[in-house]
Amino acid sequence: MSTGNHYLGLLDRYRDRLPVSPDMKIVSLVEGDTPLIPLENLSRAAGHDVQIFAKFEGLNPTGSFKDRGMTMAVTQAVHEGTKAVICASTGNTSASAAAYAARAGIRAFVLIPDGKIALGKLAQAMIQGAVVIQIQGNFDDGMRIVKEMADAGPISIVNSINPYRLQGQKTAAFEICDALGRAPDYHCIPVGNAGNISAHWVGYSEYAGVKPRTQSCAFCTDTCRFERPAVVSNRPVMVGYQAAGSAPFLRGGPVDEPETVATAIRIGNPQSWDLAWAAVRESGGWFDELTDADILAAQKLLAEREGVFCEPASAISVGGLLRDIKAGKIKPGSTITCTLTGHGLKDPDTAIKQSQGQVLQIPAQTDLVKRAILDRL
Ligand code: F0G
Repeated sequence: MSTGNHYLGLLDRYRDRLPVSPDMKIVSLVEGDTPLIPLENLSRAAGHDVQIFAKFEGLNPTGSFKDRGMTMAVTQAVHEGTKAVICASTGNTSASAAAYAARAGIRAFVLIPDGKIALGKLAQAMIQGAVVIQIQGNFDDGMRIVKEMADAGPISIVNSINPYRLQGQKTAAFEICDALGRAPDYHCIPVGNAGNISAHWVGYSEYAGVKPRTQSCAFCTDTCRFERPAVVSNRPVMVGYQAAGSAPFLRGGPVDEPETVATAIRIGNPQSWDLAWAAVRESGGWFDELTDADILAAQKLLAEREGVFCEPASAISVGGLLRDIKAGKIKPGSTITCTLTGHGLKDPDTAIKQSQGQVLQIPAQTDLVKRAILDRL
């Protein structure tokens, strides 16, 4: 399709840094190119001369960062002649897999945990025609089952253990560098299964022309991209935040019964354990945890002070950062990016619950409505 300068998605834009061959038929929903929003109010309030940016990944076509990896993974799966994709998911991966499979005309099978999935995500998978399998277990149980089915037939796993997923996801780091003209000083990111923090580190490293020390070719498919010329000369400190009830990186090993209001990151046994540790160690970063109350407070703060509505799991990056600025862990004058991984509309129940009392019930009379407004000006 000839489209002049029309943006055609991240596989097209970053083709020379991705395992995309000329004979591949790209499966795309024109994902990526998400806004890097300066959080001016929160930066001012945080002090220390910091500049905070939100990379709002909730503005991808299915409302989360998963689309970056899914366009690559499904493109590769179709190229290999697969008939179906399968994933375990806390919701966003399933929504994305369902969408890209629909686009490609193949089947999607998605395993979701019992009851603990935000309504919007379930709606997406269902309307997009995925076979939704709710298991009596959590994400980690689903992941185990999916891995055990690896040789079940012409079906591709599209969880982030699929290296093509992470290749696609690394482009978020490229976009941030392209927008800022350099890498940020710090990158704050929610951590669940730990693919995204790992993918970002690869992206930042690649753009800086540095091969990550502890990652040999876990990410490399047939094409090692680290020989490409450097675009920037720095890499950020990577900071990963987990929910306190689901924080294996803070506990030093798997958590059996993960629990958190941030259902997207309700994961006790992250698959990209080593890669995520490598990202944090090589960058001089750290992991930290937030309570559910702090996660929800951060979600509300972002919505109320910046007009940015992300899902609870996403807000953890900003909540954690603001705490770390206060604690003096972030150098004054720093530029920081926070990944907001998913859109707030994914999980309306949680948003409404934590906004209780904000809907005024008033008879349909102008004078009463007027008074209610004037009282609040
Ligand atoms: N934020 C959101 C909104 C997510 O959906 C996820 C993961 C993460 C953060 C964590 O990213 O796993 O790469 O560390 N969701 C997966 C899913 C597990 O099934 O949708 P990660």
